[in-house]
Amino acid sequence: MNLETDYLGLKLKNPLMPGASPLADDLATIRRLEDAGAGAIVMHSLFEEQINLERLAVERDVESHTESFAEATTFFPNEEDFEETCEEYLSLVGKIKETVSVPVIASLNGITPGGWTSYAKLIQEAGADALELNYYDLPSDPTKTGADVEARALDLVKAIRKEVTLPIAVKLSPFFSSLPNFVSELKNAGANGVIVFNRFYQPNINIEDLDTDSVLELSTSAELRLRLRWLAVLSAQIEGISYGVTGGVHTAADAIRAIMAGANGVQLVSALLQNGADYLGTVLTDLTKWLEEHEYDSLAQMTGTMNLKHCPDATAFERGNYLRILKSWQP
Ligand SMILES: Cc1cc2nc3c(=O)[nH]c(=O)nc-3n(C[C@H](O)[C@H](O)[C@H](O)COP(=O)(O)O)c2cc1C
Repeated sequence: MNLETDYLGLKLKNPLMPGASPLADDLATIRRLEDAGAGAIVMHSLFEEQINLERLAVERDVESHTESFAEATTFFPNEEDFEETCEEYLSLVGKIKETVSVPVIASLNGITPGGWTSYAKLIQEAGADALELNYYDLPSDPTKTGADVEARALDLVKAIRKEVTLPIAVKLSPFFSSLPNFVSELKNAGANGVIVFNRFYQPNINIEDLDTDSVLELSTSAELRLRLRWLAVLSAQIEGISYGVTGGVHTAADAIRAIMAGANGVQLVSALLQNGADYLGTVLTDLTKWLEEHEYDSLAQMTGTMNLKHCPDATAFERGNYLRILKSWQP
């Protein structure tokens, strides 16, 4: 079965890959992921805050900027909270490249255009084949409009585009008021793909301690549906970019749904953290078997077949579905 997919201009032997996470932190696990058939390896992120902390620390040593350093670190983790230095991240890119033959996708995570984006270039020089930009933003300033929020993201993508020739995939949240327009603007700003969607790790309120509890809960397949809807809407309309899916892919059936909705790259994290790196091989085998049983010639033949390309009005279609679902409820 031909499972090849074009993802961000990279020819992958199949669309399955570990998403950004500690899965690609050690070379033994990375080898297992490649042996299990991963089409690419995605690294965990290097964070804007981490880069800025290191830069400030250098300034502090050189110019004694202790005040600005203290202020900048009020909300954020300290240098010691990051287990690796930026230098070590770059060195890991090179080591992973030497270890595997599949493409290596590094990840930058941040929201403000600034000096830290020069790390994109260093990541490219370290040998990465593509770059994810995780735009994890929670706009909370009442003076900022939706257009302001989008403009900041677009400026960031443009800034990173200036640094690298690498393919760039922007990992997005679902909380944009007109996602199709924003995605087409991301394409104009130089993005080669988008990944839908970041999971927001909402803290709960601890009512006894009057504090917040932050616990990382892994996903379930139920989270995939939001992604399917937007993959189907976006991939039908904005062509010439790739679509990655992250969030809720646990089985081959989940992967098939995402590919039918338009995904070119399928990322798994929770499923691999729960079941081990080799589980990627199980999903790959099940995917291949399903395609054979359903007499597909290739994965490409299935890609996007359930998107909304042939739907004249996606908004009316969604609205109709919404009404039908409410009316279908039986007590
Ligand atoms: C322990 C852990 C660490 C993660 N680290 C990163 C990261 O460094 N950068 C990033 O973009 N996403 C990170 N993620 C998010 C995942 O890449 C992924 O988007 C999310 O887990 C949803 O996919 P899933 O349902 O397959 O778990 C992390 C997730 C987990 C569980």
